[in-house]
Amino acid sequence: MEHSIKKLTICGTESEPTLNNDLEKMIKYIKEKQPSTLIRISTNGSTHKETWWEDFGKNLKQFKSTIQVIVGIDGIGTNHERYRLNTNYYQIIKNMQAFIKGGGTAVWQFIVFDHNQEDLNAAKEIALKMGFYDFIAKYSNYLSREKRKELTFKWKGKTIQLKSSEANELNEKQTNNSSNIECYSKQKNEIFISYKGIVYPCSWIKSSLKGSYGLTETEGSLNILKKFSVREASIHQKGINAILKDKRKWQELQDSWDEVSTSPKVCDLYCGKRKHETQCYFDIASKENEGPERQDKIN
Ligand SMILES: C[S@@+](CC[C@H](N)C(=O)[O-])C[C@H]1O[C@@H](n2cnc3c(N)ncnc32)[C@H](O)[C@@H]1O
Repeated sequence: MEHSIKKLTICGTESEPTLNNDLEKMIKYIKEKQPSTLIRISTNGSTHKETWWEDFGKNLKQFKSTIQVIVGIDGIGTNHERYRLNTNYYQIIKNMQAFIKGGGTAVWQFIVFDHNQEDLNAAKEIALKMGFYDFIAKYSNYLSREKRKELTFKWKGKTIQLKSSEANELNEKQTNNSSNIECYSKQKNEIFISYKGIVYPCSWIKSSLKGSYGLTETEGSLNILKKFSVREASIHQKGINAILKDKRKWQELQDSWDEVSTSPKVCDLYCGKRKHETQCYFDIASKENEGPERQDKIN
């Protein structure tokens, strides 16, 4: 392999990784080629039953904490299910017990909203007792990104309201007036590969091109962004090394930030006026700098 992959995040931006029957095969392939890669898999933990999770844990045991399953448990009991629709808190807890018993490394990720923030300490205690490796709390990035105070919708005859006041406040505090782009991907030396095999600088550019954030790009910025969504950016067409070596394309994106007429709005939204901290990252509270072999438990 020409490039070394330090960290692979299988976060299912479009879906749920544990529903892919080849997940284990893919992980093992990466570990065989590059044993030191830290692999993180995001899941809602509500798929499958305990036996599947225990087997998964057993099969990952040899890799210790270099493979981490990040499970989204956003509150206790029905509080969790208010955002995580159609998942079952008690089944997730049973699944995680089985996974940890099998020998897997599990990280509890808690997305904080107004309705669940009081559960934070109790959740940490449960995580500690159950043998989770780490506990990550992060704010929901959705409402602040959409500049909304709340989200109200109907679900199975009930009205559900989601608020994230603290995230909105933090976001406002962190908004600065300069529009210098501090590119997350460049800083982290990270790329995003979609499930179709297209290589983007980040998942936000992919989502924005799909219309997820409702941004209207200028003709100039759109032309630059679109170069990341064409066939030549596909690992099936060109191969990862050739795509990464195509310096012109990456440089063009970087140069675009100097001009308002070409600077992509999506870059401004995620890496410009706002700082990264309130957004959707795994490394907000994780022990990344201490390396994947960290042996101690959450504190
Ligand atoms: C869209 S999910 C898909 C992966 C998996 N199905 C899951 O539930 O974790 C990808 C990542 O985004 C996180 N996420 C989901 N909703 C979020 C929100 N409102 N704010 C911040 N992160 C969120 C998830 O916890 C997960 O880490």
